[in-house]
Amino acid sequence: MKTKLVFTTLLAGALLGACATQPVTKEEPGLKDVLGDKFLIGTALNVWQVAGQDTAATAIVKKHFNAIVAENCMKCAEIHPTEDTYDFKDADAFVKFGEENGLTMTGHCLIWHSQLAPWFCVDEKGKNVSPEVLKQRMKDHIYTVVKRYKGKLKGWDVVNEAIMEDGSYRKSKFYQILGEEFIPLAFQYAHEADPDVELYYNDYNMHEAGKRETVVKLVKDLKARGLRIDAVGMQGHVGMDYPDMDEFEKSMVAYGNEGVKVMITEWDMSALPTVKRSANIADTVAFRKALNPYPDALPDSVSQVWNQRMGAFMDLFLKHADIMDRVTAWGVTDGDSWKNGFPVRGRKDYPLLFDREYQPKPFVTELIERLEKEKAENAAE
Ligand code: G3I
Repeated sequence: MKTKLVFTTLLAGALLGACATQPVTKEEPGLKDVLGDKFLIGTALNVWQVAGQDTAATAIVKKHFNAIVAENCMKCAEIHPTEDTYDFKDADAFVKFGEENGLTMTGHCLIWHSQLAPWFCVDEKGKNVSPEVLKQRMKDHIYTVVKRYKGKLKGWDVVNEAIMEDGSYRKSKFYQILGEEFIPLAFQYAHEADPDVELYYNDYNMHEAGKRETVVKLVKDLKARGLRIDAVGMQGHVGMDYPDMDEFEKSMVAYGNEGVKVMITEWDMSALPTVKRSANIADTVAFRKALNPYPDALPDSVSQVWNQRMGAFMDLFLKHADIMDRVTAWGVTDGDSWKNGFPVRGRKDYPLLFDREYQPKPFVTELIERLEKEKAENAAE
């Protein structure tokens, strides 16, 4: 009996000793851990990522993000290629990925002039269809897509990029055929399809005074009609020298004052020289060497400015956390970004929160450390 007791005591001591020498590796917090009590932090995913073919990106998503949006696979041209056919394969994979990883999901986007199925607004001769036909097509598309994911998504970008920088309406085919009415109709149809899903208006250059004024009027009008609108999405495609942060903040506050949440829905910051081009995001500029100044790596001097400015934007979002609901980066790593091909094809840009080696940019690491420290200090008080 005595021997057994001695042996047990020795074993217990050894085990305790072993535990005591093991470094207690508390998993380093991710962005969602330090931002979780402020707003959702998300990323756009491409079709390879939703298919699980980019395991390094999946690891980043699991550690850092609690929200996702489909970069392309839920857009009209991808999901509804002909009037009689829908292709839900990639969109279903996106939703499956989100459910499997417990991620909050946003649908992007229901009504947009770009990546629009070519048949959507025209007849077989290519002529604009009548208002009645377009309304029915919008209703069919929105009902079919929104009902399919009912109960799975937090919200939808119902209408995307309908207003120009000067505050005028984009003369899209939706506008040509239905006038301004296409927007309330889209929100009405989306709400009819799923009364519980959140509904958003989403656009870029939302810091522009003219656009700000019209979007505020749009939100007021939708509410006056008794239609649901939960948030305004400021895409947040920014550069090193635009937009003016005061104007950006003025817009955040103006939208928040309308009683809707503000979301940064497509955040990226080009690290490259801004090329002068039309405001129409679909225009591109012929490649010129001077426009691709950092083909190998971003110089430290530029990286420092980039990280400082990204940190300043994040501080702005934190300052207005009371009206913010989500900040979403438009891609996981620099290599995934649309900015490598826009506005200049073949450029190498460095616009996202993680680099091509899947490592966090310095401002991300500093933000996590700073907020983690603040959290510890608050807890100690
Ligand atoms: O799906 C086709 C594929 O079948 C074909 O083989 C391939 C080669 O041409 O093209 C594929 O389509 C591409 C699509 O992305 C999916 O990868 C289009 O050419 C390409 O133009 C399209 O670019 C997307 C762009 O929207 C289109 O305007 C970008 O990936 C996407 O990041 C970008 O995202 C938009 C937001 O949805 C709205 N706000 C602006 C933002 C940037 O334009």
